[in-house]
Amino acid sequence: MKRLNKAKLPRHIAIIMDGNGRWARKHSLKRIAGHKKGAEAVRKVVKTSGEIGIQYLTLYAFSVENWRRPEDEINALMSLLEEFLVSELREMLDTDIRLRTIGDITKLPEQTRKILLNTIEQTSHNSGMTLNLALSYGGRDEMVEAVKKIILDKESGRIRSEEITKELFSEYLYTADIPDPDLLIRTSGEYRLSNFLLWQSAYTELCFIDILWPDFTGEYLIDIIADYQNRERRFGMISDQLP
Ligand code: FPP
Repeated sequence: MKRLNKAKLPRHIAIIMDGNGRWARKHSLKRIAGHKKGAEAVRKVVKTSGEIGIQYLTLYAFSVENWRRPEDEINALMSLLEEFLVSELREMLDTDIRLRTIGDITKLPEQTRKILLNTIEQTSHNSGMTLNLALSYGGRDEMVEAVKKIILDKESGRIRSEEITKELFSEYLYTADIPDPDLLIRTSGEYRLSNFLLWQSAYTELCFIDILWPDFTGEYLIDIIADYQNRERRFGMISDQLP
């Protein structure tokens, strides 16, 4: 961690955790074994991120498209999420981590939602890193929902058309009180955003790494952050204009 410049840490890191299925195939195991190993990688990465001093870590744990997977795989993913929440509660409280979610969690099974809401509540007073799980999340769905809410507020007179700006739109998204990600990582060597944080990642630095998610570690994360710190973020300006 000595290699990192504390003054230039990404405030918000978002990760598309991809490659659990391929990891399982590579080891002649069932897909679910890949997810199980993937959940272990989640523990490691959460721990390292907290230790480094990352303020927001968003993990793409389940997309709206993932509902199309076989039922036994969906059930296994929900069970793994429940196990993770129960087993990590103590750790989250001890390390000051606050849990929250983005996505339509009303779609989750009752039991999963109950555990989730309980964990959110129990960690709500923590002020260290925010662990943000994207569950039943889709970027396009998020934007369509935002548009619907804006129309309702316009119709009821709570907002006027002239007030509809990029900033106001952002406030209608699930991520209303979270800064845009500075760094977005996708594992497994795929080069896609897959409907993840489409609006929020307009100026995000992207990193695609050819490591399957279950093999991902805190060391890889530190390497990626070190690489990020060497990039120049210009936000449309030229180098000379930057501080
Ligand atoms: C992508 O791998 C991964 C997922 C769809 C789910 C991510 C879930 C976990 C890492 C485990 C549980 C999560 C938590 C928060 C405890 P894939 O199945 O698409 O892999 P493939 O592309 O190789 O088939």
